[in-house]
Amino acid sequence: MFDSGDFSETPLWYKDAIIYELHVKTFFDKNGDGIGDFKGLTEKLDYLESLGVNAIWLLPFFPSPLKDDGYDISDYYDIHPHYGNMRDFKNFLREAHHRGMKVIIELVLNHTSDQHKWFQRARKKDAPKKWRDFYVWSDKPDNYLDARIIFQDFETSNWTRDPENEKFFWHRFYSHQPDLNYDNPEVQKEIFKIIDFWMKMGVDGMRLDAVPYLFEREGTNCENLPESIDFLKKLRAHVDRYYQNRMILAEANQWPEDAILYFGNGDACHMAFHFPLMPRMFMALRMEDRFPIIDILEQTPPIPDNCQWALFLRNHDELTLEMVTDEERDYMYRVYARDKAARINLGIRRRLAPLLENHRRKMEIMKFLLLSLPGTPTLYYGDEIAMGDNHFLGDRDGVRTPMQWSADRNAGFSRANPQKLYLPVTIDPEYHYETVNVENQEQNQTSFLWWVKRVIAMRKNFKAFGRGTIEFLHPDNPKILAFLRKYQDEIILVVINLSRFSQVVELDLSPYAGYTPVEVFSKNPFPVIQEKPYIMTLGFHTYFWFVLKKEVVASPEKKVREISLLKSKSDWIELFSSQLKTKIESMILPQFLMEQRW
Ligand code: NOJ
Repeated sequence: MFDSGDFSETPLWYKDAIIYELHVKTFFDKNGDGIGDFKGLTEKLDYLESLGVNAIWLLPFFPSPLKDDGYDISDYYDIHPHYGNMRDFKNFLREAHHRGMKVIIELVLNHTSDQHKWFQRARKKDAPKKWRDFYVWSDKPDNYLDARIIFQDFETSNWTRDPENEKFFWHRFYSHQPDLNYDNPEVQKEIFKIIDFWMKMGVDGMRLDAVPYLFEREGTNCENLPESIDFLKKLRAHVDRYYQNRMILAEANQWPEDAILYFGNGDACHMAFHFPLMPRMFMALRMEDRFPIIDILEQTPPIPDNCQWALFLRNHDELTLEMVTDEERDYMYRVYARDKAARINLGIRRRLAPLLENHRRKMEIMKFLLLSLPGTPTLYYGDEIAMGDNHFLGDRDGVRTPMQWSADRNAGFSRANPQKLYLPVTIDPEYHYETVNVENQEQNQTSFLWWVKRVIAMRKNFKAFGRGTIEFLHPDNPKILAFLRKYQDEIILVVINLSRFSQVVELDLSPYAGYTPVEVFSKNPFPVIQEKPYIMTLGFHTYFWFVLKKEVVASPEKKVREISLLKSKSDWIELFSSQLKTKIESMILPQFLMEQRW
């Protein structure tokens, strides 16, 4: 595959991406109706650009009764009037593209809203078979009983009786979200039409919601069926055939050996979320032990070269604990959700900062990990300023409150009457919007926001993070997580102290004897690696990225600076005459800049 390496041009852009996930309603309300809109989001693109993210994943923005935050779509071809209109969307897309940003939208293909016209015509008593067959019906709710119930706090069965035609319809999520019938070729055709509509408009990627559940087969748990994977391959072939540089991302909350099915042989989805890794990062931090992370990544089979994991810490859903053992789930509830109100279904409805008790170093470690492990990091809006949550709101709304821009009314999110907001802003004293907001943090260079910006900017200098291999080191001290990321001649050593106490560690770096580890933020060279164990002392909750350089690198402090002298016979302004200016720009400045630790 041709790969120029240029982010906007390369088909593999998703490997170098830093994805920012948001719902348009949460971001910025331009028309003052209390709900974020596309005009508002477009205005905030400068913010996203300055944060350093280069792909935006938009949660569903289509017409919908909004009983599942838009994952209940009633029309796939329009924009929900709350958020603006098609012109606003296209304008947003164009502006994002101007900035070199990719736009990923949702394809909710497993189910529709019960308000969708397909369901309305299918449920009629005298509906012809061709309409009825868009969904999965049964006279009795006794098929596919081996399928688990996903929203177990809300539903007691995957079947619901439709009062209109007195038959039962199949649904893996809420009972207002009937599952489409993928055995019907007409359904598949409709899905391809939807894809064409949005791809032609120019969206760069689609997150495929709930893909493990497309087909149903008796005697199975109705997840990850070969029929579902085959359909995704057809979908991929279609996208490849008609469009360039697009990406499809599977939302498959599955164990690694099942999740990799969604990559096919590099001919199904380009990306898939790594669900089992996410809770294990939290576990490792709390246990102060690297085992959970290494264990799950060692259980993760290799994936085709053109594929990529999507990594995340938090998202718009609960911190799901489906992909852990019962013991691990008990542990996670005990340490991260003592308050039972924070639990929902099989998970925890909390944001990053409250989960980590607003501990700055812990938040840094988690983000650092996210940006260091193999895959493409996905950041959830608001976590870059350590926003709080409100689990007293219903369902998962507590992690979907308005973005906090400033200390102004409604956190600077909207000019509306505060009672009109789609959800209340956070006023928990610890995370109050008057303190936790973008404006405050932009003005304070030591804020979490600036930390996130700096780390993102630094990560972008190295291709190894998005594309490289990973090799774990196994020092005796289990509290230290250390690994190498390698891509072509780039070698990065990542060292993280998961403990709240200082630690010493001996790393076996003997294959790199003679190399110098240079810490990337300070550019400080550390002692040259030798055959014997490399000893490091680490303060509590510290983390490092080192580039391993073949040559011996002198410390910037130790270097005797030779200051270049420029002489001018008359006025100093003459120094900027064209000839000398070129010299300054091409020879003197770069050398000077390179020697600066910043
Ligand atoms: C997964 C989405 O992330 C979640 O928010 C939604 O409720 C279900 N799929 C159903 O669409």
